[in-house]
Parts: sequence; C-alpha cells; structure tokens
Amino acid sequence: MTSLLFEPLTIGNFTFRNRVWLAPMCQYSAVDGVPNEWHLVHLGARASGGFGLVLTEATAVVPEGRISPADTGIWNDEQTREWKKTVDFIHSRGAAAGVQLAHAGRKASTPAPWDGHESIANDDGGWTTVAPSAVPFPGYKAPRELSLDEIKALPGLFADAARRSLEAGFDVVELHAAHGYLLHEFLSPLSNERTDEYGGSHENRARLLIETTRAVREVWSKDKPLFVRISATDWTEGGITVKESARTAALLKDAGADLIDVSTGGNVKAKIPVGPGYQVEAAATVRTGGLPVSAVGLITEPRQAEQILQDGKADAVMLAREALRDPNWPLRAQHELGVDPVSTPWPLQYERAAWQ
Ligand SMILES: Cc1cc2nc3c(=O)[nH]c(=O)nc-3n(C[C@H](O)[C@H](O)[C@H](O)COP(=O)(O)O)c2cc1C
Repeated sequence: MTSLLFEPLTIGNFTFRNRVWLAPMCQYSAVDGVPNEWHLVHLGARASGGFGLVLTEATAVVPEGRISPADTGIWNDEQTREWKKTVDFIHSRGAAAGVQLAHAGRKASTPAPWDGHESIANDDGGWTTVAPSAVPFPGYKAPRELSLDEIKALPGLFADAARRSLEAGFDVVELHAAHGYLLHEFLSPLSNERTDEYGGSHENRARLLIETTRAVREVWSKDKPLFVRISATDWTEGGITVKESARTAALLKDAGADLIDVSTGGNVKAKIPVGPGYQVEAAATVRTGGLPVSAVGLITEPRQAEQILQDGKADAVMLAREALRDPNWPLRAQHELGVDPVSTPWPLQYERAAWQ
C-alpha cells in the first residue's frame, strides 16, 4: 500500500525520511545540564528504530530554565560538545536530530517525577522561579514576576541556544511553548496578568513567543526547520482556545516558524478528555493557521497514525510513551502497514530479526 507515514516529508530545503517522529521526553538524567551516555543510548536506539526525527527532551537555555536539576541544557560549550556525540550517532542511523529549547518558568525547580511532585526549596538545591506574573502553578512555589528588561533579554537567550544547537549539528530546533512552561505562561491569560505590552490582548500575550521565534530564525540556518510546540488549549474557561491557537500559528508563520507541534494543557489543573488521538482535532484546527502541523497524544497503532495523515489532519505524527515501550515502533509499523519495499531500513546488525 502507499503509506503516507513512510513517505518523506520536505519542509523548506530539508527532507525527513518519514513522518513518524519521536516526541520530546525529559529523562531527568543529566548532571549540570550535560547530556551523557543515557541520552545517547535512549535517543540513538530510537534513531535505529526508524524514527524520521528524534527530538531531545526539553533542553534549557539557561540554568534556571530547567524543570529539574537533572534536565539537559545548551547554554555552555561542554553541553554543546556532548550533544554533538548524540547528534552524530542519530545522523549515522539516517534520522534527523532535533533539540527542544525550553525555559520552564514557574514550573522550574522541581524534582524528577520519581522523587516527588513539589517544588525544590532554594536551600535544598532549588532556585527562585520566574514567570510573567507572580501567580504560582497550583502546588508549586510562587514565581517572581519578570521585569520588562528581563523579558526583552529572553529572545536573545533562546537565539544563543539556537546558535549552539547549530554548532552541535542539530537539524531542527523546536521552541517549547507548551505544557505551562514560560512561553506558554505568557500566552495564557490564566498565568499572564501583565498590563504592559506583554499581557492582555492575544497580540500582547503572543509577543514574547513571536519575538523569540524571530530572534531564533535570525540565527538558525535557513535550510533547517524551526518548529514550535504549543498547547492549543488550556481546557479551561478563560484560557487559550484552539481557535485562538490557529491565530497564533498564523503569527508564527509570519515570524518564520515552519511547523507547529500541537499538544494541549499543562498550564493549570484541568479536566482533559484523554483518549486515543485526543489532540488530533486540535492539530487539524491549528493547521488552518497556514503551517504544517504534527499531532501527538495517544497515537499508538500504525493504522491509527496512518489514518491521521490520510485524513489530512496533520503532516506528521509524534509518539512518546509508545516509543518507550517499543523503540522499533516505526520498523514494526512499516511491516504492519505492508510498506514494500521498505523505505526505513533495519540496522544491518539487526537484519536477521526483520519481518519477511
Ligand atoms: C517521560 C515523559 C517526558 C516528557 N517530557 C516532555 C518534554 O521534555 N517536552 C515536551 O514537550 N513534552 C514532554 N512530554 C510529553 C510528550 O512529548 C507527549 O506530548 C505526551 O506524552 C503525549 O504523547 P504520548 O501519548 O505518545 O505519550 C513527556 C512525556 C513523557 C511520557
């Protein structure tokens, strides 16, 4: 059969070998922001497993932008050098390598999930968090409100990280503007109570994200894609709506973004109707903003993933938890969908295990 999932996707001058991509996933396994063998093996296994794009976890642009002290970063030379090893391995497997650039805002200074779910105190290895307004995420410590000067410095910090990402050899930069982290906190009226040009109207709330996108686009190669992950809805009255997110996508297109990675939620505690493909409709609506989109969220079955693309709801799919269960998901999906001849090859070392 003709499978869209395993058809290459070209964005600008860059071509992905297929349309099934590894979603960003924190591993809480770094020391001082430096990626290590864990990140190499974790991401490398999924590149070998056939993913077309392998995205790193949320990688902080400054130390205080880490979700946990064990997050990776890309604010110094050592981190950049170590990332390059993982990137080179991903490339050797024929996959594209992407880095998710992040600042955790008011949701920073927390432990790895297996160590608890409350903020880490400043005298216990934590730090003071920052946000558009001094409004805490429920259950976390209160952040400090950012000054106007501090806000104006943020796009430059993301651009510095993008420059380092280029040095490390990444093919894709993704700005993390979802899940209640700093850029999402600005976008959402539920966390942004500012009365200056960074708060209030949609245009004002989107200003930091747009300025950041422009600043990154300036330094990021014209030949390499720039993605933005958003939470298309806060699933809460008074918060971001999917319709508004389609307008955000249109602004992002003008600012130089190439694809919107559509997630939802995370900025407040909300009731989310979780089920198979539960964010796909949001992706389809955001796509009306004029940019290609990727869909994510309980996409677990090859036929389900293929159908999302066949229906024109998204241009690519991302898998997170299912890819932890099965690093070789794309190779298996290719077989289950009857893709012949296969376009994403098994590693030669594993060929004797390939389905005939
Ligand atoms: C262990 C784990 C870590 C995650 N870390 C990140 C992250 O760093 N950045 C991000 O945007 N999303 C993160 N997510 C969310 C996933 O990228 C994805 O959007 C979500 O899990 C839904 O997809 P799934 O149903 O395929 O797991 C994480 C999810 C998991 C399970």
